[in-house]
Amino acid sequence: MQPTDALALVEYDDDGIATAFRADVLEGLAQDPKAIPARWFYDDAGSELFEAITRLPEYYLTRAETSILSERCSDFRRLIAPGRAVVEFGSGSSVKTPLLLACIEPAAYVPLDISGDFLRASAAELAEKFPGLPVHPVEADFMKPVRLPEAAAALPKLGFFPGSTIGNMVARTAVDLLRSMRLTLGGDALLLIGMDLVKDVAELEAAYDDAQGVTAAFNLNVARRINRELGGTIPLDKLRHVARWNDTYARIEMHLQALEPIEFEVSGHRFGLAQGETIHTENSHKFDRRSQYTLLLAGGWTPVERWLDPDERYSLILAEATRPRNAP
Ligand code: TRP
Repeated sequence: MQPTDALALVEYDDDGIATAFRADVLEGLAQDPKAIPARWFYDDAGSELFEAITRLPEYYLTRAETSILSERCSDFRRLIAPGRAVVEFGSGSSVKTPLLLACIEPAAYVPLDISGDFLRASAAELAEKFPGLPVHPVEADFMKPVRLPEAAAALPKLGFFPGSTIGNMVARTAVDLLRSMRLTLGGDALLLIGMDLVKDVAELEAAYDDAQGVTAAFNLNVARRINRELGGTIPLDKLRHVARWNDTYARIEMHLQALEPIEFEVSGHRFGLAQGETIHTENSHKFDRRSQYTLLLAGGWTPVERWLDPDERYSLILAEATRPRNAP
């Protein structure tokens, strides 16, 4: 069945989130291969499991990024003049954002997030840590251009997009987002963006399939959520977590794989998985310097400087909005 047909199955109800979740799941399970958009990972349980992932020994990304942020303050101060509004895409983590804010003397902090609850909590926490700093949280889907609060709109901006979240998008979506960030932030903006690096496949697969099974629980949580919120009957014990490298796309893919043939219902619609068939749930693209620069340039950002952590597993890049000019 084609996705367009599946869309017609959706019954609309009063609850917008539930409706969107149901639409995405019914459409995704009707596709071949099956896929569920990763944004549905992050209910309360999923957000907590993700926090636990960032502390796993195998999951080097968070520690590597934090080490760059704490080691490179003098570089940031040299390259980023005081007085910018820092616009963070996604909820500010309690560790990374303060490292940046304490370093560069910003004039305002504008966290953007689609989840209002998370946003208000992290904004309040930040405001407490930086008493003199105006904090203007904006509840918005940052995949589209966002109108910033007036107090911040007048200031030059520094976009902050940590966590290699750009890597969770396929290339064309990542370029769309970078272009839309440029519209949100203006022609004199800077962007500080985290991007994970291509490395040994075993090391990458371990980072997304840890020994304690936390990432497996995170992945399975989306199926649990479908059962709970969409009247699903997915047999969780017949699915296993798979993290595998796709070399063509230079990405780790997460899947839920059927251990035996299964049938189940979601919102009254029947679906089946053959033995070994998977539901694709997440991508995490990995980069080298050239692929990073190509992606940034395609999105309207010119690289200024690039830093690696001491183990050279992860990178943070400062870029500036490319000036519109005639190119040969
Ligand atoms: N952007 C991070 C990464 O790709 C965070 C992330 C998104 C993640 N989905 C995940 C981490 C699933 C582990 C599992 O690594």
